Order: sequence, then C-alpha cells, then structure tokens
Amino acid sequence: MTLRRLRALTAGESHGQALLGILEGLPAGVPLTAALIDRDLARRQQGYGRGGRMRIEQDAAEILAGVRFGETLGSPLGLLIRNRDWENWTERMSPLPGGPDPKPVQVPRPGHTDLAGALKYGRTADLRDILERASARETAMRVALGAAARALLRELGIQVGSYVRSIGNADADAAADVAPELLRDDAEALALRADQTETRALTAAGSARLVEAIQEAQRRRDTLGGVVEVVATGVPPGLGSHVHADRKLDGRLGGALLSIQAIKAVEIGDGIRGGRAYGSETHDPIVLAADRLARTSNRAGGLEGGVTNGEPVVLRAVMKPISTVPAALPSVHLGSLELVPAHVERSDTCAVPAAGVVTEAVVSLVLADAVLEALGGDTLDALRPAFARLRLAPRTRPGHVWLVGPMGAGKTEAGRRLAVLLDLPFVDLDAVVEERAGRSVTELFRAEGESRFRALEAEAVGSAAKGPAAVVGTGGGVVVGEPAWRTMRASGVVLGLAARPETLLQRLGAGTASRPLLSGDARAALETLLRDRRHLYRRADLTLDTDGLDLDQVAGALVGLLRTLQGPLVRPGATP
Ligand SMILES: Cc1cc2nc3c(=O)[nH]c(=O)nc-3n(C[C@H](O)[C@H](O)[C@H](O)COP(=O)(O)O)c2cc1C
Repeated sequence: MTLRRLRALTAGESHGQALLGILEGLPAGVPLTAALIDRDLARRQQGYGRGGRMRIEQDAAEILAGVRFGETLGSPLGLLIRNRDWENWTERMSPLPGGPDPKPVQVPRPGHTDLAGALKYGRTADLRDILERASARETAMRVALGAAARALLRELGIQVGSYVRSIGNADADAAADVAPELLRDDAEALALRADQTETRALTAAGSARLVEAIQEAQRRRDTLGGVVEVVATGVPPGLGSHVHADRKLDGRLGGALLSIQAIKAVEIGDGIRGGRAYGSETHDPIVLAADRLARTSNRAGGLEGGVTNGEPVVLRAVMKPISTVPAALPSVHLGSLELVPAHVERSDTCAVPAAGVVTEAVVSLVLADAVLEALGGDTLDALRPAFARLRLAPRTRPGHVWLVGPMGAGKTEAGRRLAVLLDLPFVDLDAVVEERAGRSVTELFRAEGESRFRALEAEAVGSAAKGPAAVVGTGGGVVVGEPAWRTMRASGVVLGLAARPETLLQRLGAGTASRPLLSGDARAALETLLRDRRHLYRRADLTLDTDGLDLDQVAGALVGLLRTLQGPLVRPGATP
C-alpha cells in the first residue's frame, strides 16, 4: 500500500508481544477515541469460519501518541494492540538471544509465504521466522490505522463500508438489488447491516447459503475464499489525478486492496463485465438533473481517468481460499528433503467476512490520503471549505443554504435577511416541527421528550431538502444526527454561525426560559451544550464568527462565504 501524504507503518509478529502502528500526516482536530478504533477491531474479529485464535484475542487499541482530549494533534498517531496469546509464546517468541525453537516449522504450506519468504531471508531452518509476520494478524493494526483515517473521512461526509458478496460458489445478495439506497448514500450503514449476519452478507437468506458453503468446506477438511464489495459514499469529484501514473486513484486503490493478505484480484465498478460489453452498455451517461450534473448509472465505480467522478466508489476484492488446508497439501520437509504433508497450524476455514473489514481500512487510508493530497490542510477546519468546493463543483444551481449553530447564533434572524439578499424563501425548521407536532417546541419536549422532537426535526430536514431551494434556519440540535448531515450536504451548502457563550446568552436575553435545554443554570447548560456539540457545529462547510456583527452584517458576510464555495457551473462563463 503506497500513500502519498499519509505515512502508515505497522510492526509486530502474530504471536509476539504486541502490534505497533504509526500513522503520520493526519491533520489536527480530528475527533478520535480508542472506542472508535475498537469498534472496527471487534468487527474484524467476527465472521463464521474463523479459527480458534479469534476466541483468544479481544483486540483493544491503546493510543500512545498523537491524540489529546479526544482530538488529533497533527503529530504522529501511535497505537498499540497487545496480543493476548503472547503469554503462551513468551519463550518461543522471545526477542532475547537464545533458541532454537524446540518445535521448528520445516514444512512450507503451498499458498502461504513460508517457502518464498524462507528462501529470500535464509530462514529455512524454522519457517516461523517468516510466517509470524506474513500472518494476517498484521491486519488488526491496519484496521486500527484505517479507523483513524475513517474518522477524518466521516467528519467530511465520506462513509466507507463493505459486505460479502460470495463465498466459494455460493452467492449472497448484491447491494444493488437489496439495498440500493445505502449503496448510493451511506456505505457505513451498508456495512453495519452486513455486520448483522454471521457471514457479513446483506440478507439472512444469503448468509445461510454462505454458511452452508463454509460447512461443506469444513466437512471436506478444506478452505474457501470469496468476494467482498467495498464501497465509499459521499466521495466528491476530484480525488486522485489523471496527470501522472502514480497519482491515479484507481491504481492506488487497487494496489492497496492487493496488498491485503490473500486478496488476488480487484474489480473497479463493473470492470470485468465491461470487457465483454459494448461501450454504450458500459459507460455512464451524463445528464442534467434539477440542480447538478448527474449520472444515470455507476458502472465505472466512481472512477474515471484515475479521478473520482462524484459517484460512489465501488470496488470488489477477490480473496483466495486460506492456504492452511487441514487435509494438508503435498510439500517438502526442508530439513530431511522428504515429501510430506504441509505444516498445519490453528487456522481459519474462511476469513472473507473479516477481510471485508480490512478492505474498508485500506480504502479509508487511500481516500484520506487522496483528500489530503488534493486539498492539503494541517487542520481539519482548513480542509472543510476546500472539500466543500469539490463537493459543490457539479452543481449548476447553489441549492439550499443550511444554517447551523447554537441557539442565539442568529440562524433565524440573520437567515431571514440572507434569504432576502439571495432572493430565496426562508424556512424556520423549528416552526415546521411545531406545525407538524401541533404544539410548541417547549411543550413537545415536555410531553413527548427530546427523542420525539429529534425524529420530527429529522423529518423536517428531509422535507425541506426535497422542497425548492431555500435558506433554512435549523434548530440547534440538528447537527447531532448523521442522516441530517448527509441530507444537508447533498442538497447544498452548510454554513455555521458561532459566537462566544456570553454573546449567545445576551442575544437570547429573557428567551432562555423558553429553551428546554437551558432550564436551570442557563449559562452552565449552554457551556455544556457547546462543549458536547463543538465537533458537530464545526462540521459546517464554513463557519462565521458573528461576535460584534449585527444581523445585516452577518447576512452580508454569509453571501460572501457562499460565493467562495460556489462551483464554476453556477455561473458558467463568469470570470473568477
Ligand atoms: C483476515 C484474514 C485472515 C486470514 N487468516 C488466515 C489463516 O487463518 N490461515 C492462513 O493460512 N491464512 C490466512 N490468511 C491468508 C494469509 O495471511 C495469506 O494467504 C498469506 O499471508 C500469503 O499471502 P498471499 O496470499 O497474499 O500471497 C488470512 C488473510 C486475511 C485477510
């Protein structure tokens, strides 16, 4: 896996003390916790067909460097994952001078690295010197580093996910058939749906077919591989480049997937089918949708000329069967040079479900690398407007202007003035919710609770997005829901309004009494709210500090911010 802006390194033997990882080049300000990394580590350990090792290990990442108070610092991220199995191997894997191992491995497994690695490094006396590092245990750390890259992508609105398409000859269901909306809009939800079945297939019926195939392999004392589909949604056009071979993103993604242990082929979009079809059946027509350039299909898998084209990135990775075959294949004992069955050690029958999670990690690393290469940025905040410009580039009309920020920031009043300046209608999202609920926000909170309010608010975001372009003043809590972010970003620009707590309180004045989230000590409640939602408000494409500005000045400044984000097709021919 070759990265251009990020640097990722892993170290560690399968039965050594621990795995080490360093990721250098992440910008400062990315929210990151060990829990976020552990979620993906746990996902990698699932899956029908795994061997005994996965019952021993319960991977947990320790963040040793690069993060303070839950945010990256811009310094190298340093991670450690301890191997629980180490306690059974302290002598045989000791770094101290000594040896030889009383139980050397001397019969190489066809398909594994044993023979090729031993010949290269002169380690034919004990193949463990090779197999310990060749083992896919290493992918636990790649998944951990990938989780950090995914944290950056998530902040920008890119989701990465995978599911299992087939194992051996058994086919599960394709996302295009059973979850087309997730395939288009939310790859992470696609992956979480796959996590619900033991094979990471998307449906129970498909999973049952895959389980049957694995059981048949076990009965035959054999192993199986399969195909994983890995998808990224929310990808803007313009990542990667056509200008030079080593900048082409298709090659970089393909190389990264092929660098995963046992992945032997990669397909981009409908690449293989394309070799047997006409051009007219292969390429994705370009059309004008209501307010943007669009495609009527995505057979290219989101990549043309080594550059993302704004459609979801869709890749397929083919995994060969596990090479430690229980009914061992013929091999040669490297000590006696006798023909004997290959070495067998505790092993998986099928690791395709786990490999899917590894594909997500390497795709996340390559996409994060491509984002940083295209847009630079020492800080996440510096990346956001540059990223938004790419996202907005295919738009032929500006679309919605969503205003987010804490209460008192001026979303409603400055929003109304902005709507006048832009000649657009103004939508007050709280008013829409009140109308639907038939009661005030305060009453709604009291009678039905915050979760009901949030559900109605999410619905209101969806219906506003479907309506004509407008300036939308959102409620202070809209930023909490991931679907709302997806909807807002897909339908236009998200601008943030910020101010110091004292300014917010002063603007709210007596109004704090009617704010359910500010009941009691309003100042303390507001400060807690701002702290909890800090990362969320910062997700706006651009944020205006409104301290010291009156409402007309805020509205005027927002017009300026909008102009800096607009793409070239909004006013074709205009000189920049
Ligand atoms: C998640 C995962 C788990 C794997 N588990 C095993 C295993 O238990 N036994 C095995 O022999 N190979 C396993 N492999 C595959 C080997 O690591 C791989 O075949 C070997 O390193 C040789 O590399 P190559 O197949 O890329 O040529 C696994 C691969 C992955 C991605």
